Amino acid sequence: MSAVRTKKPKRKASAAKRGTSAKSKRIAGRPGEKQPDRETLVEVRNLKMHFPVTEGAFIPKVVAHVKAVDGVSFDIMRGETLGLVGESGCGKTTTGRCILQLEKATEGDIIYDGVNLNKLNLKQMRPLRQRIQVIFQDPYSSLNPRMKIGEIISEPMMVHKTEPDEAARNARVSELLSVCGLNPKFADRYPHEMSGGQRQRVGIARALSVKPEFIICDEAVSALDVSIQAQVINLLEDLRDEYNLTYLFIAHDLSVVRHLCHRVAVMYLGKMVELADCDELYDNPVHPYTQALLNAVPIPDPTIESKRKHQIIKGEIPSPINPPSGCVFHPRCPIAVEACKKNVPEFREIRPGHWAACSEI
Ligand SMILES: Nc1ncnc2c1ncn2[C@@H]1O[C@H](COP(=O)(O)OP(=O)(O)O)[C@@H](O)[C@H]1O
Ligand code: SF4
Ligand SMILES: [Mg+2]
Repeated sequence: MSAVRTKKPKRKASAAKRGTSAKSKRIAGRPGEKQPDRETLVEVRNLKMHFPVTEGAFIPKVVAHVKAVDGVSFDIMRGETLGLVGESGCGKTTTGRCILQLEKATEGDIIYDGVNLNKLNLKQMRPLRQRIQVIFQDPYSSLNPRMKIGEIISEPMMVHKTEPDEAARNARVSELLSVCGLNPKFADRYPHEMSGGQRQRVGIARALSVKPEFIICDEAVSALDVSIQAQVINLLEDLRDEYNLTYLFIAHDLSVVRHLCHRVAVMYLGKMVELADCDELYDNPVHPYTQALLNAVPIPDPTIESKRKHQIIKGEIPSPINPPSGCVFHPRCPIAVEACKKNVPEFREIRPGHWAACSEI
C-alpha cells in the first residue's frame, strides 16, 4: 500500500490521462443538463424524498412528512468523483439511497447511463445493481460477522452470477485482496480478526468484485483514524484511475473531500446550496453556509490556526418536517435580509460551472 500522500497530484494527472483538463470538467449548463464534452453517467433531476410521519397504532394516519431531500438536481460525469457534503441529517444518505433505488423517490428522476431507473421493475434493475455498488461508513456492521472474508467478497459474484466457477471466484478474491492492499491469506479470516482500516478495504474489495462502474461511498472513511483514512482515500483514488470508476463520495469532512473529488456539492436541509469544481469551491465559496462549513475546517498549521477567527453557524439545524419558509438557511444566515424569509432562492450559475442558491450574491 502506498504511503500517505500529502498532496493531490493524481487528480490532475488522471485528468490528463483521460484527456480532460480541470477546466473541461466544469459544468457549463444547468446542473441537470447533459454536457457536450463529457459523458454523463448519472443524472439526478428534481429529486424529492419525503418520508411520511404517521400517528395511530391501528389505523396509521399520515400527519406530516420528513423532507429529507427536497428538489435536488445534479449530474455525475463518467470517471468523475463528485463530493456530497453537509451537516448530519441534510439528506446525503437519502440521496445516495434514492440513486441506488433503495428508496422509492417521492418525485424526480434518476437517469443512469440514459435509463430512467424509476421506470424499471426489479428484474430490469438487477443488471444495473451490478454496475452500481456502495461502500458504507461502518465496515464492521456491513460485513457479516459469521462469514469469512473470502465468502463476503465472493457473495456479490454469486448473487450476480458473474463468476460461476468456484476456482475462478477464489482466484478473483485473492486478486481483489491484493489490489486492496491486503494479504490474500486474509480470505480465511473473519471480520473481527481485522482492524477497522482492513475491514474497510474488504468492503471496497466486495464492491469491486462485480466490476462496477459507479460506486457510492457513503461516509466510507469517516469512522477511520486520520492516518488510515488517508490510506483508504489513496486506495480509492488509485482504483478510480485504474478501473475508470465514477464515485459519489458522501462525507461531512471537507478536508477528505478536497483530496479526492473533482467537484463538490453542498447540501443543507434537503436542498443543494452550492456546487462547483473542487478548487473553486474551496478557494471561492459564495454561499454563506459553505463559507461557514469551510471556516470550521482546522488548518494543519498551529501558528495559522491559532490566529484564525472561526465563524460559528448560529442555531440548530431546523427540523426537515417543518423547514423554514423562503430560503431554508435564513434563520442561521449571517447576511439574511427580510426577503429571505419569503423567497426561495434560485439555484443559479453565478460564474461558469459554479452554482449557488442565494439571492444576495
Ligand atoms: N426512513 C426514514 N424515515 C423517516 N425519516 C428518515 C428516514 N431516513 C432518513 N430520514 C430523515 O431524513 C433526514 C435526512 O437523513 P439522511 O439522508 O440520513 O442525512 P445525512 O446522510 O445527510 O446525515 C434526517 O432528518 C433523517 O432523520
Ligand atoms: S438567500 Fe438569504 S438567507 Fe439564504 S443564504 Fe442567501 S442571504 Fe442567506
Ligand atoms: Mg448519512
